[in-house]
Amino acid sequence: MTKSFQEPFVLVIFGGSGDNSYNRIYPALYDIAEKGHLPKDYAIVATGRKYTQEEFYGFFQHSLTSDNRHHKHSFQDKTFKELERHIHFYKGDNTDSSFYTGLDKYLDDLVKKGLPCGNRLFYVGLPHSLYSTVFTNIKKSGLHKSPCGWTRVIVEKPIGSDRKSARALDKLIGSSFSEEQIFRLDHYLGKETLENVLNFRFENNIFEPLFNKKYLDHIQITAAENFGVLKRGKFYDATGALKDVGQNHILQMLALATMEKPEDDSEKAIHKARIKLIKSLKVNPKDLVLGQYKEGELKGGKAVSYRDEIFIDKTSKTDTFFALKVTIDSARFRGVPVYIRSGKNMEQWITEINYVFKSKNLGDNVVTVRVQPNEGIAVKLLTKKPGHVVELAPTYMQFCYKHHFPHHSFDAYEKLLQDVFAGKHKFFNTSKEVEALWGFIDPLSNNRPKLTYYKSGSWGPKEAFTLIERDFRKWLEPYHAFCQI
Ligand code: BG6
Repeated sequence: MTKSFQEPFVLVIFGGSGDNSYNRIYPALYDIAEKGHLPKDYAIVATGRKYTQEEFYGFFQHSLTSDNRHHKHSFQDKTFKELERHIHFYKGDNTDSSFYTGLDKYLDDLVKKGLPCGNRLFYVGLPHSLYSTVFTNIKKSGLHKSPCGWTRVIVEKPIGSDRKSARALDKLIGSSFSEEQIFRLDHYLGKETLENVLNFRFENNIFEPLFNKKYLDHIQITAAENFGVLKRGKFYDATGALKDVGQNHILQMLALATMEKPEDDSEKAIHKARIKLIKSLKVNPKDLVLGQYKEGELKGGKAVSYRDEIFIDKTSKTDTFFALKVTIDSARFRGVPVYIRSGKNMEQWITEINYVFKSKNLGDNVVTVRVQPNEGIAVKLLTKKPGHVVELAPTYMQFCYKHHFPHHSFDAYEKLLQDVFAGKHKFFNTSKEVEALWGFIDPLSNNRPKLTYYKSGSWGPKEAFTLIERDFRKWLEPYHAFCQI
């Protein structure tokens, strides 16, 4: 454990009664607590408008016990009680300046009541439209100045809604916090399976020589979810799939899947290699498909159309799906197209990268990195069926995390929060990186194609199939027996 874990701290959560805290932050804190990685003295101050104190504690407990696809293990009452003892709820409206002076006093009072004065950490996980209000007020109130110890701030993606607004927001954040103090969070950078892609490619000499234009035909990235916008309609309708996950998670998957090996293990070298790849991406806005889900069938039964979801405008043109063809201007991958598809209310929850090798029948040789669920890597190859005649059948060799590392946690937030405590920036975005990501997305969102529609429970609109099929290629069917241990 690093020294900073031992030091007292207070973590202030902006958006403490929101979905992200419920689904990600509280479960991650619980996991960190359960592993004994929190210091003796700390406080978590969740802030929000919605709840009374009592309601908040109910919400907090529920976040740890409800069904959560990223947080699946038994609930220990002892860990919960210990965590509950350290968590506080500060109720207020963060668009009002008195909220900040009150919060500053609240933090001082915690110290007066016995919490050793220590490090201050802010987590800002709010709709991006609120970011400038929050950071302007943090600055005015002096909250960012910890009386003792360091201050750090975690800023949840998306930062801004285009390059211009991201730049302005960054400038504002930078007027209170130095680059060293800022942690721009895209939780896909904290996914173990994605970090491993680099190691898999560069540390295995049986594979490294094959991952290039000589042997690869193309790459596919699928990030499909079998659920809709849930209760996040307000945020989502103003954002859409391309900006909600395309500008960040998907581009980072692409970066990790195709970037060059960083010069060394330093944060600087890793950031440099990621940015270089992002800047080398080329796209024609005509190769973008945007879709929105309509009625259809999901596993749980009939699904409503996006426009009938709660908080969604009945005439909304927001994209819940996008597909895209990208090329990479690098010596290694020039001429190897990457096809991407991502959406909500699709047939299956599956996130994977497929490296499709040149072969007599395209699709016979594929390396699949399954990011989630059933995390692992599979190599598809042809094998002779036992018998007297030579007949080939597709077979798979696979590595499954569940089998090799059965007790490992896959929660990205658990890892990233601990990185912030330790002051490590490796898996966070720099401001230059955020700009580069928007630099790729802006020309696409400024030239939006006509919205298409797809049935809930399908693999997306027909235009997404045309996008790949006109190049005589096909979307791969996910390999269903993958790591079903
Ligand atoms: C979030 C998006 O950042 O990532 C969500 O806002 C999306 O819309 C989620 O569902 C996906 O994350 P994960 O870790 O569940 O794949």
